[in-house]
Amino acid sequence: MQKKILEAGEVFNAEITKIKNIDELESIRIKYLGRKGLFAQLFEEFKKLPKDEKPKFGQLLNDVKKSSQEKFDLIKNQFDGSSSQVKNYIDLSLPGRDRQIGKKHVVTQTMDEIKLFFQRLGFSVYEGPELESDYNNFEALNFPADHPARDMQDTFFVTNDFVLRTHTSPVQIRLMQNKKPPIRAIMPGKVYRNEVLTAKSHCQFHQVEGLVVDTDVTFAELKGTLVAYAKQFFGEDLKFRFRPSFFPFTEPSAEMDIWWKPEGKPAQWMEILGCGMVDPNVLENCGIDSEKYVGYAFGMGVERTALRKYGINDIRLLFDNDNRFLNQF
Ligand code: DAH
Repeated sequence: MQKKILEAGEVFNAEITKIKNIDELESIRIKYLGRKGLFAQLFEEFKKLPKDEKPKFGQLLNDVKKSSQEKFDLIKNQFDGSSSQVKNYIDLSLPGRDRQIGKKHVVTQTMDEIKLFFQRLGFSVYEGPELESDYNNFEALNFPADHPARDMQDTFFVTNDFVLRTHTSPVQIRLMQNKKPPIRAIMPGKVYRNEVLTAKSHCQFHQVEGLVVDTDVTFAELKGTLVAYAKQFFGEDLKFRFRPSFFPFTEPSAEMDIWWKPEGKPAQWMEILGCGMVDPNVLENCGIDSEKYVGYAFGMGVERTALRKYGINDIRLLFDNDNRFLNQF
């Protein structure tokens, strides 16, 4: 009896795995699981067994019939897609699905961090357009007509009078034209330069501009603000220096360097931002009385800041959109 039961299970298995359509499936049902099928016959035989043999075979017959029925139901459900059983069928052996949650790009994260720092110091945030007039981008900022920055090599000219802004400084002009002092604002945004793409430079990047205009603004306050910024960004024990520099729109002007060790290179001075006292000509260009008001301004590159902070050695990585790189931040 035991042999018969096991054999019935085996031939059922062999046949049901070979079926090609629902008709064949139905004939298998009749042959094995129907009222007159093989399992029904085996139950009849089982009933005739002597009483003491019944427990031995009853359990086995039940198990084999049950697993055959389950297999049948499973296959039937694959034909009948609307059945709720298929939908509820859970394959517990499948590996779990990894959830892909989006996150901010490392440049956006860095920009947010810079913004947050200055917002905490009471700076508001202003934005301006990326397509800017030659006047706002250069002239109002005191660039002489023959200044090299106006050169075709550096600037993307859209028309004779309009450019893709080469820096965020023109937003200073827009702000001062529209708002009277006191002004205390940062101006983040995208800028463009007509440059060859290398590990260090890109034709498109981000800057954060800062501007403070009031009656009693000092260079000392500018320095204090920028030192606090650099320390919170690059570490409390940061070594830094201010170096005299030149920008047409500030006088005096300076650049801030930090002592920094790039990946695989010895520590060295690296420039992180430009700054200075707003040139009185710029205030006057915006209708602000330069006898009464003084201002300071600063500007920093966001990508460069991120490269330094995270030890990334090629700016192009920031624009490749390779998740293997971006997911590290
Ligand atoms: N606009 C300058 C640049 O793109 C950066 C800069 C320097 C901005 C000094 C400023 C500043 O506001 O005071 O290189």
